[in-house]
Amino acid sequence: MTAPGIPFALLAELTHRCPLQCPYCSNPLNLEKAAAEMDTAAWQGVLDQASKLGVLQVHFSGGEPTARADLEVLVRHAAKLGLYSNLITSGVLLDERRLDALAEAGLDHVQLSFQDAEAANADRIGGYRGGHAKKLALGKWVRAAGLPLTVNAVVHRQNLGHLGAIIELALALDAGRLEVAHVQYYGWALKNRAALMPTRQQLEEATATVEAARARLKGIMLIDYVVPDYYAKQPKACMGGWGRQFLNVSPTGNVLPCHAAESITGMRFDNVREKPLAEIWKSSPAFEQFRGTAWMPEPCRSCERREIDWGGCRCQAFALSGNAGAIDPACGFAAEHAALVATAARESAAPAPDLIYRRIGGS
Ligand code: SF4
Ligand code: FES
Repeated sequence: MTAPGIPFALLAELTHRCPLQCPYCSNPLNLEKAAAEMDTAAWQGVLDQASKLGVLQVHFSGGEPTARADLEVLVRHAAKLGLYSNLITSGVLLDERRLDALAEAGLDHVQLSFQDAEAANADRIGGYRGGHAKKLALGKWVRAAGLPLTVNAVVHRQNLGHLGAIIELALALDAGRLEVAHVQYYGWALKNRAALMPTRQQLEEATATVEAARARLKGIMLIDYVVPDYYAKQPKACMGGWGRQFLNVSPTGNVLPCHAAESITGMRFDNVREKPLAEIWKSSPAFEQFRGTAWMPEPCRSCERREIDWGGCRCQAFALSGNAGAIDPACGFAAEHAALVATAARESAAPAPDLIYRRIGGS
């Protein structure tokens, strides 16, 4: 058993309800219905416990967190506890009056997602007509309310051609930060992998576009860039290492080491309605299973990167091998890595199949 540190961030997934239907959604395939969600008092209790545990930041997420009528109450509660609060939103349910109410309740930051810079394609990818125009309006209101803005753009073969325009869009909205995140393939995205996987050439062009923009916009807008695992030689330190920095609480109160952990079938999660959060963080079997390095198989166990990437992504290892404790196939040392790269090359070269949209009951 590895002694855990202090989690610095809590991802509070208030709901799985969402008006958008992005085909790469990180929510599980089996989405929770509204009736199963924790109520306001239970979420306030989670915030109290998280603060006592040492958490400094809370990210209100979903689904679409603004689908919850009590979001202002929860933001106010987080502010009272001194937690830095970030709203991760698609933006389509917010009007200026409600945004101002959230700012007044103490919201610190807004992260707004875009599906593309081109309205028709953005609305098609998100499965929500008129969504792009609403997002543009919200971006302006966020800055008018004096809140810092991060634009999040998930990129893939169906929008990478517009990456330059996405960067300009974020700049025009006066975002302080832009996240350009290539799709990571588990859950809904794995179902849509062939429709979303870029070619290596698309990836290289995107990387060059990001690097040029970073140099040009230094001191104006920070650009974070997440590359697709399938073309990487080394895996990412997913979640900063399992059970090291992050806590995720699902709409029903399951406490997860990672937002996608429920995709690992057979893994059981403790629930904050039944056990204290501190106890779950410190000793729940799901957190302990892949915390630290003792669980690692070779070659990770004797690899010099084992405390850099913490063995990569457990959800991806499970999705691709059926074993969450296996080496992440994104790693160049994994026997399966060559097959993974070949899959990416083959799927990205073939015509894109239709998108499978994220829907409750649609898995
Ligand atoms: Fe990371 Fe394991 Fe690959 Fe080493 S062998 S780079 S620890 S995934
Ligand atoms: Fe779950 Fe990487 S997405 S560990």
